[in-house]
Amino acid sequence: MCGIVGYVGDKQAQDVVINGLRRLEYRGYDSAGIALVAEGRLEHDKRAGRLANLEKAIAQHPLPQATTGIGHTRWATHGAPNDLNAHPHLGSSQRVALVHNGIIENFAGIRDELERAHHVLASETDTEVAAHLLELQVESGVDLTTAMQRVCQRLQGAFTLVAVDAQDPSRVVAARRNSPLVVGLGEGENFLGSDVAAFIEHTREALELGQDQVVTITREGVEVTTFDGAPAEGTRYHVDWDLSAAEKDGHDWFMRKEIFEQPRAVADSLLGRHARNGLLQLDEMRLSDQELRDIDKIIIIACGTSFYAGMVAKYAIEHWTRVPVEVELASEFRYRDPILDYSTLVVAISQSGETADTLQAIRHARLQRSKVLAICNTNGSTIPRESDAVIYTHAGPEIGVASTKGFLTQLVACYLLALYLAQVKGTRYGDEISEIMHQLEAVPDQIASVLSRSDEVYELARSHVGTRSVLFLGRHAGYPVALEGALKLKELAYIHAEGFAAGELKHGPIALVEEGLPVLCVVPPRGRDQLHEKMISGIQEVRARGARTICLAEEGDTSIEPYADHLIRLPKVPVLLQPLVAVVPLQLFACELATAMGHDVDQPRNLAKSVTVE
Ligand code: G6P
Repeated sequence: MCGIVGYVGDKQAQDVVINGLRRLEYRGYDSAGIALVAEGRLEHDKRAGRLANLEKAIAQHPLPQATTGIGHTRWATHGAPNDLNAHPHLGSSQRVALVHNGIIENFAGIRDELERAHHVLASETDTEVAAHLLELQVESGVDLTTAMQRVCQRLQGAFTLVAVDAQDPSRVVAARRNSPLVVGLGEGENFLGSDVAAFIEHTREALELGQDQVVTITREGVEVTTFDGAPAEGTRYHVDWDLSAAEKDGHDWFMRKEIFEQPRAVADSLLGRHARNGLLQLDEMRLSDQELRDIDKIIIIACGTSFYAGMVAKYAIEHWTRVPVEVELASEFRYRDPILDYSTLVVAISQSGETADTLQAIRHARLQRSKVLAICNTNGSTIPRESDAVIYTHAGPEIGVASTKGFLTQLVACYLLALYLAQVKGTRYGDEISEIMHQLEAVPDQIASVLSRSDEVYELARSHVGTRSVLFLGRHAGYPVALEGALKLKELAYIHAEGFAAGELKHGPIALVEEGLPVLCVVPPRGRDQLHEKMISGIQEVRARGARTICLAEEGDTSIEPYADHLIRLPKVPVLLQPLVAVVPLQLFACELATAMGHDVDQPRNLAKSVTVE
């Protein structure tokens, strides 16, 4: 949600900033802007719409050469996505430029105060007040670092701020509270970014910042303080992926590339989980066996696709460990006053590790003395940092706004957690756990076999251009898969799509079914014969009312053939693992249909990948 870049060094700041913004555009793409410090002046440009609009404007009216600069790509919260509301924002005398990610909750009072003092605020944003406050500070004679410390003490809400002062080209100053910011450490140059993708082509050495810290970067170094000005330290780390992971690699979309990376992502997320004694090990699990044995309830909290991963996890965790599991939308969780105590394990699932709804939910849980375990794909992000334990997924950077490999690797992490709990609590025998691990280790090849038949799914998808509505049906662990399939279609193709539990259909949603309506059905493996038969009944019910059924069913399941207008075959896997293979054709379907409809698959309208506001 908004991408931020800062640079000081010896390269052309414009190039570094624009390239950084390009890699962060997945975070928001309502407008983009840049400010450079050149010969004692601020030069800036900002444009509504994609980064390409800004690039075009700069090509027509080039900015001067400069080696210090900041940039922003916006996901609008306060004020429409137009040129005026785009960042950077400048103070009255155009001495300070500032970009912001987050929401300054007390901006209205500050704005009144500034206006009473005859400041003219040009935009409708909450950000502009911070630019004016900063400028007042530097004009009073303090340096930009001190100015930032003082201003942050006045601000409430969530924010990452990055600023430059026209009269001090040697530094870029940033601050963070409840919003992401990392420092890239170079030689004779340093970088700031909402995440490491902003500077990965220049350096893989990074510094993670704590809450309520101010950081100053110069060519020579990096200085971190608290908002009070006391010295502080960041945590240095090495980024274990490089530029190639952040490129499309010959695919038309990042999303398609990421779908095809899933066999590797799943395999990587399973790597290194066996100890020498054959037992399952989770290295980053910072909870003791005794703490895990004491758990008598699990609450999973997440948003969007991660929430659906949580719904799948419930089936596996309850079945393997007999511990009751609730799954709840993070945005709803703390407002219902959930019943939590020290024996409740809260599992927060978040690909980005920065989702504000999830972050607030875990803070609430920890206040109630619950242990929090994060399942996360982003090293050093806020959610794992604020959790008691973490299982990292190893999907590599996910750039397409609609999550794909993030989802699959979250499922893997959930299965690992379930099996680990079963091992510690002794609810499954060791050989049963090993057998499931073997089944999981076979999944990457099975996903690859689904992907090898993608043309068939693409053709089907293209035949649905013009379709106004699609339903998805599933049962048991296939139900969240149906929900995820529908979400993908909504996000990417902007089509009305809904997922239902097949058994619930007859209690209302069946009224939606009309002649020719496409219904995608996730058919459970036959191992669970009851489930399979019940699913077929649901399929018959919609067919009887004119629906056209597209069935996803395992190899060798001939009993489904009479009920499928179109059949997509899935590899044979146990019912609890079926989501790992069944969701893949649904991802391919949504990606191809959106492409055929001419939509931007990587940057769907109105969405952002990392939603850092509640
Ligand atoms: C946004 C994205 C979704 C994502 C959700 C949760 O809404 O558009 O694709 O599933 O956030 O994100 P997280 O990073 O917490 O998994």
